[in-house]
Amino acid sequence: MIVGSSGSGKSTLLNMIGLLDKPTNGKVILDHTETTQLTDSQVSEYRNKKLGFVFQFSNLLQDLTVLENVMLPQQINQNSEEVQQKAKQLLIKVGLEDQIPKRANKISGGQAQRVAIARGLVNSPTIVLADEPTGNLDSVTAANIVKLMKSMARELDQTFIIVTHDREQFPDVDRVITIKDGRSFEGEEPQMEVLA
Ligand SMILES: Nc1ncnc2c1ncn2[C@@H]1O[C@H](COP(=O)(O)OP(=O)(O)OP(=O)(O)O)[C@@H](O)[C@H]1O
Ligand SMILES: [Mg+2]
Repeated sequence: MIVGSSGSGKSTLLNMIGLLDKPTNGKVILDHTETTQLTDSQVSEYRNKKLGFVFQFSNLLQDLTVLENVMLPQQINQNSEEVQQKAKQLLIKVGLEDQIPKRANKISGGQAQRVAIARGLVNSPTIVLADEPTGNLDSVTAANIVKLMKSMARELDQTFIIVTHDREQFPDVDRVITIKDGRSFEGEEPQMEVLA
């Protein structure tokens, strides 16, 4: 989890990890790859194969079905029955079995965020990056989304990096990094050990 006050640079950090943004200085090393050295096409390939994204707004394509939305990232890599099966399995895991054929504009905000989580997982990414994934939800729905991400993390042995304002909503995470004044700190108290 990455926490820090508004404007501290949480989204900027996440976008650099997600290869959506390039640092002007320094390196980004992901899973032993120095991503700052990759060419544009290598970056796209890396992003498609190794990273999943969940944003504050689910960003579903409203004219597609729930199932089609989840299949989308994987269709860049391959288009097959297998992808459809995987997407269906994930939708069942996130509790949306009965919503699979619906159009994305016919489901609620909480359901849409579940779809977005399934979509983020469909490539079996190394990391799922989530920027304020519960920021647009009421507290009960948000709590359910938090529970869902936690159970996906456990069940699929999936790493999530989550940016949030609302530390209280995520009481039980493996690691917390605080961003303050442009620097990152291990743990929740800025006076703790400074990371490199
Ligand atoms: N390391 C950095 N170097 C230069 N500019 C930065 C750096 N980190 C963040 N910024 C700039 O600071 C501003 C706020 O950053 P960002 O949007 O990442 O903050 P945030 O923590 O996500 O805020 P919020 O909680 O409001 O979403 C942006 O204009 C961003 O470009
Ligand atoms: Mg932000």
